[in-house]
Amino acid sequence: MYNFVFENATKVYFGKGCVKEHLPAILAGYGDTVMLAYGGGSIKKSGVYDEIVSILRENGRNVVEFSGIMPNPTYAKVLEGAALARANGVSLILGAGGGSVMDCCKAVSLAAVSDEDVWEKFWMRGEPVDFAPLPLGVVVTASGTGSECNGGAVITNEALKIKSGRDYPQCNPRFALLDPTYTYSVPKGQMISGAFDTLSHIMETYFGEPNGDNVSDSISEALMESVVRNLRAAIKNPEDYDARANLMWCSTMAENRIIKLGKKPDFEYHAMEHQLGAYTDCNHGRGLAVLHPVYYRHIYKYGLPKFVRFAQKVWGIERGGMNDEELAAAGVEALAALIREIGLPTTLRELGVTDRSMFKTIADSCGISAGSYKRMTHEEILQIFEECF
Ligand code: NZQ
Ligand code: ZN
Repeated sequence: MYNFVFENATKVYFGKGCVKEHLPAILAGYGDTVMLAYGGGSIKKSGVYDEIVSILRENGRNVVEFSGIMPNPTYAKVLEGAALARANGVSLILGAGGGSVMDCCKAVSLAAVSDEDVWEKFWMRGEPVDFAPLPLGVVVTASGTGSECNGGAVITNEALKIKSGRDYPQCNPRFALLDPTYTYSVPKGQMISGAFDTLSHIMETYFGEPNGDNVSDSISEALMESVVRNLRAAIKNPEDYDARANLMWCSTMAENRIIKLGKKPDFEYHAMEHQLGAYTDCNHGRGLAVLHPVYYRHIYKYGLPKFVRFAQKVWGIERGGMNDEELAAAGVEALAALIREIGLPTTLRELGVTDRSMFKTIADSCGISAGSYKRMTHEEILQIFEECF
């Protein structure tokens, strides 16, 4: 294992009824004005909005609403939220939604306090955060990204066509409320996409050095197996509490930094998917599903022992007469079969990407990860996009 320092500043409240049970006491630690941030309105349909607003009002809070945060949140939306927070002297941002709401709120928490262009300073130049952002708490309504327990915020700059993530520990939500029943209303397509995103986060970490025995990889194997099993259960019965609870907690575990301890994650196909998203606004988990098998067919021979372990431990594939290369390939094909089984797209065309003439520009705009078993080139990324088409 590589050396590490670990801290996670987010306090997690997990389980059915946790918002009603804990939010009133949490509010006592913050000022009078709360900015309730949310997306396109799913929280109004599901009743989550009414539940939160009544708690805020009962506890004497002024509520400022910041709504309409879109999937793949834009920098323009961040600036809108920051202006609203400043104008109203907001003391706490409470984001209720999925990854897009949480990420946008993290960026707002910086932009509301900073006088500088936070996109340039933090997302482009990656400078350290040397001030306290506005406090943020989140209520998760769609699991998958794990954004609730890290400082990561993925923002799209539409003008520049760059979708970029930064993880600043100062942006960790102060608290995260995770009620699995809040995810019952997530449409099947988004549930599957979120669960695949979780699986992808775990795989991107697992398929990275070191490859010797380390507890992070062992936890990852248990998480991957749990995501696959519980996703199948939640597809069968969307109101299976245990399945939703396990998916929700696997999502957090994948991104609360624990499985990354002592590891050097890959995260190349996240970089590739983010740029596809910047150019096409495609759904994150669906984009990942298209890229994964093709990307792994390109790299598995360079990380053979780990891909063999993946086939055996995660997919339970027996060696039989297979050599290492065949066994490793069988693991990758088991993943591809899961993607087909649960109804995720397998081609960029299915994802709605029809213009292949832009692939070279998108490929050239992708960052190159140092963590991959095989260092990508922009030419190979272009080849992967073409194979995914
Ligand atoms: O906007 P509303 O109306 O709320 O609808 C949302 C949205 O349309 C809907 N939804 C959420 N909760 C629901 C619900 N619908 C019914 N019932 C509920 N309970 O789901 C749709 C998608 O929401 P979104 O937040 O966009 O999805 P997700 O959680 O997958 O987040 C995706 C974003 O997170 C970024 C992605 O790139 C993308 O921008 N990521 C963030 C990461 C992080 N911060 O650590 C890591 C990830 O790798 C990822 O890049
Ligand atoms: Zn992701």
